[in-house]
Amino acid sequence: MDNVLVIGGAAGIGREIALDFAKKGHQVAVADIDRTTLNTMIQQSSVEQNLHAFDVDVSSWESVSAMARQVIEKFGHVHTLVFSAGITKRLGLEEVDWALWKKTMAINLHGLFYSIKAISPYMMARKEGSIVIIGSGSAITGSGGGIQYYASKGGAFGLMRSLVKELGSYGINVNVIAPRVIQSQMLDALYPTAESKQAIMNEIPIGRLGKPSDISELVQYVSAKQAKYIHGQILVLDGGRTYQGK
Ligand SMILES: NC(=O)c1ccc[n+]([C@@H]2O[C@H](COP(=O)([O-])OP(=O)(O)OC[C@H]3O[C@@H](n4cnc5c(N)ncnc54)[C@H](O)[C@@H]3O)[C@@H](O)[C@H]2O)c1
Repeated sequence: MDNVLVIGGAAGIGREIALDFAKKGHQVAVADIDRTTLNTMIQQSSVEQNLHAFDVDVSSWESVSAMARQVIEKFGHVHTLVFSAGITKRLGLEEVDWALWKKTMAINLHGLFYSIKAISPYMMARKEGSIVIIGSGSAITGSGGGIQYYASKGGAFGLMRSLVKELGSYGINVNVIAPRVIQSQMLDALYPTAESKQAIMNEIPIGRLGKPSDISELVQYVSAKQAKYIHGQILVLDGGRTYQGK
């Protein structure tokens, strides 16, 4: 059993990832800006004893570094770091203002950098670990989010690739899982009606929307010690939508 930190784990994909690790017996630190939802998620789970809540606003280095110190004080070390915090808004160039651009970058990209910077020294000291970034297939396709969102998620690809050599030499593998249309509150906000969801579903060769468990199963796999050779990859999870030949 190992220690896991899921950042952005109160809801959606991160929530499923945290619950999956906890059900498998791992000790899971779950950090999020939304403490109310986080507390409810933990209280309603069947594995409350394996889930531990931490406050964080990933857009602030002070907040992320304080959270990291608290997690290490409690657990001693973290084997797997999952970064799943993120925001989106489907807007084009004309509509995206500077405030939204900065906010999206601050959470999706700066928050990712802060989280890796705060936790990786502890992994490097132990010469082991795994970092899994929840990115987005929309940074490949340029559809489904908004320009500020694609840019932040594209930045995550570059950040991940820039760390391959440095972290790999410490036995730490780092990968991006790039989902598209996974059932969550984020998806509901982007596609609020049954018709809009059906229209997306029609584009997915496998015939259904993604489920948070599709992501969490892959997170389990790539963070396992026997999967260390999967390193520096962008793993697209989309039911075949991106490469369907249309
Ligand atoms: N749902 C999809 O279809 C989909 C597709 C592609 C990529 N993604 C990516 O997956 C990740 C998770 O998305 P989701 O669908 O679960 O979204 P979600 O909105 O359900 O969950 C996001 C979580 O991040 C937390 N968060 C937001 N701002 C934060 C901050 N400043 N500090 C700390 N936590 C913060 C929220 O409180 C929430 O718990 C995101 O990075 C998203 O871009 C989702």
